Amino acid sequence: MNGEPFRAGERVVLLDERGRRYLVRLEPGGTFHYHGGALPHDLVLGSEEGTTVHSTTGASLLCFRPRLADFVLKMGRGAQVIYPKDLGPLLISADVFPGARVIEAGTGSGALTLALCRAVGPEGRVVSYERRADFLDVARRNAEDFFGKLPAWLDLRHGDVREVASTGETFQRALLDLPEPRAVLDEVAAALIPGGILATYLPSTGQVQETVAAMRDARFAEVETFEVLLRTWHVEPRSVRPDHRMVAHTGFVTVGRKTA
Ligand SMILES: C[S@@+](CC[C@H](N)C(=O)[O-])C[C@H]1O[C@@H](n2cnc3c(N)ncnc32)[C@H](O)[C@@H]1O
Repeated sequence: MNGEPFRAGERVVLLDERGRRYLVRLEPGGTFHYHGGALPHDLVLGSEEGTTVHSTTGASLLCFRPRLADFVLKMGRGAQVIYPKDLGPLLISADVFPGARVIEAGTGSGALTLALCRAVGPEGRVVSYERRADFLDVARRNAEDFFGKLPAWLDLRHGDVREVASTGETFQRALLDLPEPRAVLDEVAAALIPGGILATYLPSTGQVQETVAAMRDARFAEVETFEVLLRTWHVEPRSVRPDHRMVAHTGFVTVGRKTA
């Protein structure tokens, strides 16, 4: 990552002239085919980030290492992922810090898991429950792929998050992206330390209403709900305006703090 040239086995993001992105794993002798022709991987291998290479038809492609946001949008999927626009606000609103002990469910495809692993770092711990074995496999592959190997501080568990209650473990932060947080609230809240933060991510208002009521019943304080509307802009010398398209709705974040 420190200005080293691209090596075999790692991923590159190729950006074409129109800003389209392609995520490619580099292999000696390999070729990437797209509508702009063919690109031998060997043109990228050994070059530094930010290099422009040319396909067989002369189309130019810029080479960068993928950001977490690039990877999440292109990685293998089982369940629907949390989009980058929501990952950042989730981490900040739940105050996920380096060294934190975090519990998450469900793992799904692992988008939030990757963001959590990055945020807590090697001094932290991420325990992530997923009840579908096939989804957990997808998430495991994504984590291995993104980090190069499974982070030692990530514990992927096949099962219902309610099982955490029988482990005696405690956590400072809990993040739930599952349809019925209310159904697992007792067990997850019991594993949170007082002052700990719970964040839920839900697509519809009925789920939010139920969840907020359940969190208040469970004596969570500072319960707040928000959504993130991200509007990108088209900025050119003759025209500066919002882009015509935007993602109007993804999910609602609800955050609260456990009281003593
Ligand atoms: C929307 S997906 C999570 C996506 C994930 N946040 C991501 O970014 O890739 C919801 C997942 O929760 C899992 N799930 C639902 N209830 C669960 C429970 N009680 N314990 C563990 N996993 C659960 C489902 O199987 C599903 O894979």
